[in-house]
Amino acid sequence: MKFNAKTTGLIAAGFCGLTLMAAISRADETPVPAEPSTPPTYQDVASIIANNCGYCHTGGADGLGGISFDTEAEVVANAALAYAAVDAGLMPYGDSEWRTTPDGIQLLAYLKSQIPADPAKPEAPQTPAAK
Ligand code: HEC
Repeated sequence: MKFNAKTTGLIAAGFCGLTLMAAISRADETPVPAEPSTPPTYQDVASIIANNCGYCHTGGADGLGGISFDTEAEVVANAALAYAAVDAGLMPYGDSEWRTTPDGIQLLAYLKSQIPADPAKPEAPQTPAAK
């Protein structure tokens, strides 16, 4: 067979396809992402919050920074603010690395799941009512 421009092009395309497939299958083997695929429930994170946030953020408006995480309703209502504070390494107060710990990762995943959907998109799922 003679290697004219057309066959060379086909061979090159074939190689690209193979390389791409190899890259995709390799991507499948990458380690499990740090963030759990199903968000944790409030029950999963209640003790994490109590142990790492609750002793400063308790008593409703008397909580430090005016924020309290005594109940699920309070946590859900402040989910976006809490997510931002932990993700930025500001909370727990003075512990910028906590967000990278297993507890921190789990709490961030939970808080993210509780941030209300964009009200501009009415078809988006709504935050479940507090239990
Ligand atoms: C050692 C005490 C302490 C702990 C523990 C702590 N916080 Fe705080 N938090 C504070 C203080 C003090 C402020 C007020 C900071 C300020 O106004 O600058 C604050 C403020 C906040 C705010 C309000 C931020 C804002 O922009 O108004 C949020 C949200 C928050 N904390 C979330 C958390 C979460 C979530 C945790 C646990 C992962 C946590 N905090 C743990 C002391 C603490």
